[in-house]
Amino acid sequence: MLNEKLIEELEKYNQTHLIDTYNTLENTRKENFANQLDSLEFSLLDKLKVFKENNVSACKGVIEPLQAMQLKDIDESRSEFRKIGLDAIKAGKVGAVLLAGGQGTRLGFDKPKGMFNIGINKQVFIFQRLIENLMDVVKEAGLFIPLMIMTSEKNNEDTVNFFKENNYFGYNKEYIMFFVQKMAPSVDFEGRLLLEDVGRLSLSPNGNGGWYSSLAACGVLDKVKKMGVEWLNVFAVDNVLQRIADPEFIGATIESGCVSGAKVVKKATPDERVGVMCNEDGRPSIVEYYELSDSMRDATDKNGEPAYNYGVILNYLFRISELDKIYNNEMPIHIVEKKIPYIDENGEYVNPTEPNGYKFEELILDMIHMLDSCLPYEVERSREFAPVKNKEGVDSIDTARELLIKNGIEI
Ligand code: UTP
Repeated sequence: MLNEKLIEELEKYNQTHLIDTYNTLENTRKENFANQLDSLEFSLLDKLKVFKENNVSACKGVIEPLQAMQLKDIDESRSEFRKIGLDAIKAGKVGAVLLAGGQGTRLGFDKPKGMFNIGINKQVFIFQRLIENLMDVVKEAGLFIPLMIMTSEKNNEDTVNFFKENNYFGYNKEYIMFFVQKMAPSVDFEGRLLLEDVGRLSLSPNGNGGWYSSLAACGVLDKVKKMGVEWLNVFAVDNVLQRIADPEFIGATIESGCVSGAKVVKKATPDERVGVMCNEDGRPSIVEYYELSDSMRDATDKNGEPAYNYGVILNYLFRISELDKIYNNEMPIHIVEKKIPYIDENGEYVNPTEPNGYKFEELILDMIHMLDSCLPYEVERSREFAPVKNKEGVDSIDTARELLIKNGIEI
């Protein structure tokens, strides 16, 4: 039953359509729906109000440019970095975390993105590509690197089965650990909670920022800590070129004394859809592309180059002991326009072709600002950045295939 307190909350947050829905349901569904409503964090809807009033999700501090360690600097110390990184890997101090809980709505593939076949002449699934990539370092270091894979309630079963069916693409399965992230509700542009089915709220993965707390909550973090892992290389599922557990990146970060590192590329255009590195109130920070102000986009340095020219590619290195210090901090919530399939007031399923509402997401990039230091580490975009975001056009299947071929990878 909907208790009085819940009814009050629903009224306070203009969600009375859910009370109407509840009243139309049969008894068994009523109970499930009431439980779902009961576990809702209504405070998220307050954040939406603030967002609509100010048109930003999270207020930023004073933003200034931040220099990256550039390719020319890296070239001078490459072998030294490589040695430091490899030593850390060989000592079992490095683990990898694959973020694969997203829904990949822009790609429009109805399975987990990692199951997409990026091959042309042969089958090359994205997951397979990532494992092959990690195997390069495994072979060089002579030991398996623990790999944690984050999924969501929506894609966990498919992902786990796919790895099993494909014999983990040759990786040692003892070193692969899956864990499931949390979910968050979605709303339409008026802030009304959407339903994904009759009597069921539309829930989607709550962004990639909750990875560390989810890793801790399921016990996997303790396990890898006991194995001696001190650093985690966290990376996105969709960049089919990135180097994972890259000894040079790891070595450079350790050598710099920073507690985190972020691989960055020079932006292709000022409005490229990547988060940019900057300083915020004197600490490293990242501004997401959809939160980038015009003045930041157009700012130039003394050489006339864009002042915020380094975009993150979602490949970070974190020192675990530092993550433990920020573990309980509240993360900012980003409110993102998305296409969200829903059930309308007549019970009809609608699959929108344009964004129709908002999702609430925590983002990993906010961890960079929460930590004390970060090394922005430049990589060559033509060799390390081939994201599969869209079906066509920019950052698409075609552009990724082209880059794979250019890099001599058989697909
Ligand atoms: P994206 O920002 O590209 O989001 O994720 P997405 O949900 O995969 O794709 P769109 O925007 O709907 O098209 C960047 C990385 O973060 C992971 C994704 O799997 C990808 O590796 N991610 C994203 C999660 O693990 N969980 C999430 O809730 C969101």
